[in-house]
Amino acid sequence: MIRYALVTGGSRGIGRAICEKLAEEGFHLLINYRSEDAAAEETLQRVKALGADGELLKFDVADTAATQTALSSWAEAHPDAYIEVVVNNAGIRRDNLMVWMPAQDWSQVLNVTLGGFFNVTQPLLQPMLTHRRGRIINIVSLSGLKGLPGQTNYSAAKGGLIAATKALSQEVAKRGVTVNAIAPGFIATDMTADLEEKELKKQIPVGRFGKPEEVAALAAFLASDSAAYITGEVISINGGLY
Ligand code: NAI
Repeated sequence: MIRYALVTGGSRGIGRAICEKLAEEGFHLLINYRSEDAAAEETLQRVKALGADGELLKFDVADTAATQTALSSWAEAHPDAYIEVVVNNAGIRRDNLMVWMPAQDWSQVLNVTLGGFFNVTQPLLQPMLTHRRGRIINIVSLSGLKGLPGQTNYSAAKGGLIAATKALSQEVAKRGVTVNAIAPGFIATDMTADLEEKELKKQIPVGRFGKPEEVAALAAFLASDSAAYITGEVISINGGLY
């Protein structure tokens, strides 16, 4: 039986690395992305090069109707299948001190992170509960644990997603569905390309930014059968930076 895993924001960065790692574990990848066709295609080619298969699912996770349409079309085309693993990885930053933050930057960040989590996860729950196996993995952030200045919107979104992780985990635990969050510190991707790595890494006990592959290894473990007794948890991966 083909085992399906959906990764949102899979066109690059941490999402791409998670797609590759889950491909190595034998999953068929559903690679969601919003706009970067060429980058998403590159992720798909990498998945195929690893001997797995996959497909591209282009939609904006913040758009409820578009997400519903994409997921219900997929389910109709695959009546005997279900999505066993979902990694809610799509995320954006719109950093600013709150005193200067436009309302749009507040709502966009919440819509992608929190709205995206609901839009993508809700339709996948019933099939997971019916099959009595599912893995929901939410990529949050150190910012959502401690709160970071300049990121009131992002900290609120990731903190909210941590609370949602804990609540949902208790709703679905009896049916073999686990819900966990991964909280990365600084990971070297396009999202952090504008940061002063040389300065920031002085604060990190391990002395460097993390790699997307290091986050992906943790996601693949949480997706595995070995992680069946871990749920409602937030696991930090931050080189010792708290
Ligand atoms: P990235 O900016 O390189 O990739 C983000 C991905 O999300 C892209 O593929 C983008 O197309 C996609 N995306 C954004 N909005 C979307 C939407 N509305 N619908 C569908 N896809 C959308 O970022 P990176 O670093 O790979 O981040 C991945 C996740 O990890 C994000 O949730 C981010 O908040 C989180 N994170 C990243 C950290 C870092 O240091 N890079 C630290 C902590 C958390």
